[in-house]
This record gives sequence, structure tokens and C-alpha cells, in this order.
Amino acid sequence: MPIFIANWKSNKTTQDAEAFIREFVDATSADLFDKNVIVICPPFTLLSFCSQFIRANDLNIHLGTQNISPFPTGAYTGEIAATQAKEFAEYGIIGHSERRTLLHETDEEIVKKVEQARNAGLMVVFCIQNELTPVPEGVDYIAYEPPSAIGSGNPDTPEHIGEVFEQLHLKNKSEKLLYGGSLKPENIHDFTSVPSIEGFLVGGASLDAGSFAQLVQRFTK
Ligand code: PGA
Repeated sequence: MPIFIANWKSNKTTQDAEAFIREFVDATSADLFDKNVIVICPPFTLLSFCSQFIRANDLNIHLGTQNISPFPTGAYTGEIAATQAKEFAEYGIIGHSERRTLLHETDEEIVKKVEQARNAGLMVVFCIQNELTPVPEGVDYIAYEPPSAIGSGNPDTPEHIGEVFEQLHLKNKSEKLLYGGSLKPENIHDFTSVPSIEGFLVGGASLDAGSFAQLVQRFTK
């Protein structure tokens, strides 16, 4: 089943989140929720609210984190441990290129984050920048996101994504392969042709409920 993961990054307040979810549900027919896995990764500040709202309205929407602490619970000021996130989220994005470059996350730290997430029972969506990025054991999804495609309006070509996926298949076994980078309702159709693509990690276009709904609709058709 295709998975669509919305990465809201450092955007939205509680009010925005509620408006987004209402609008997204209104714009999306019920069968699309049966045919796709919809995951929203809000900032940590909105996880509790989103989780309560989804439960109260009985919605088929899943939640994920955008990051996780490399440490367990304890004296780690400012960190959110995987076991704490698991109270609200089922998925965890780890190794996003913005965190690697702007927050200087190292491969070593990233491996610890994956361990923490796995131990807590989060499904790991592991971001790679190219086919050479080391992938730790036991991740559930690999999201190929070339940094040049993120937020630039220049997605990678379906042909090149196919080549990267082929190389990933040779090295990794059971992980599901996703693509992310400048996806929009206008270009999502191009990616239906990529062999073994299982879904998408969406930044900018996931901030607008109408655009995110259109992405799901256009890919499903
Ligand atoms: P974008 O971001 O869709 O805005 O290019 C993708 C991502 O960073 O996950």
C-alpha cells in the first residue's frame, strides 16, 4: 500500500494543524484512506494535539516524528526520547539531510537514533542523500532525498530514482523505498513509473491540505 508522509518541519500551530486535518479529510474520499497509508509528521509540540484530534474523530491518519533523541529517557535537556514519542507516534523520520547539515548530525548519532526508535517500537523512515549513505540495520523505510531536490522545485528524474533504487535493492533487503524532494500535485504522476516505489516523503506540498490531498489522489488514480 503506498505511503504518503507529510514532513511539516518547523511549521504550524495547533490551530493550523486542526484546520489542515479537517481540510485534508474533507478533500479526500474515504476509499483513499483504505488504499494508502497517510502519515503526518508534525513538530513535537503538535503530536499530542494531533493524536487526540485523530482519535476523537476516528480518522485513519497516522503520526510520526521528524527526529528522535539518540539517548533513552533521562537527563538529556531538550531531547525527546523515542519511548516518549511512541505515546503519540508510530513512525520516526531519522537522518533527514537538514538535520545532517544544519544540526551537524553524524552517522554515529544517527545509528543511535535508529536503535532508540526501534527499541521503542517506532517504524523508522530513514533518509538517505544518495545510494552511498550508510543505512543502519533494521530500518523499515528508506527515503531517498537528494539534497539538491529538497525545497528547490527540481525533483530528481524518475529514471535516476529508478537507478538509485536498483542499487539500494542490491544492498538492502526488506526496506520499502520512498522518494522525497520537490514533489507537487503537478509532478506526482511522473513518479508512478519508478519501479518498486512504495511512497513519498513530502515537505513543502504537505503544508497545504489541498495540495497534499491532490498528491494522494493523483498518485492513486
Ligand atoms: P520538499 O521537502 O518536498 O519541500 O522538497 C522534502 C523533505 O525535505 O522531506
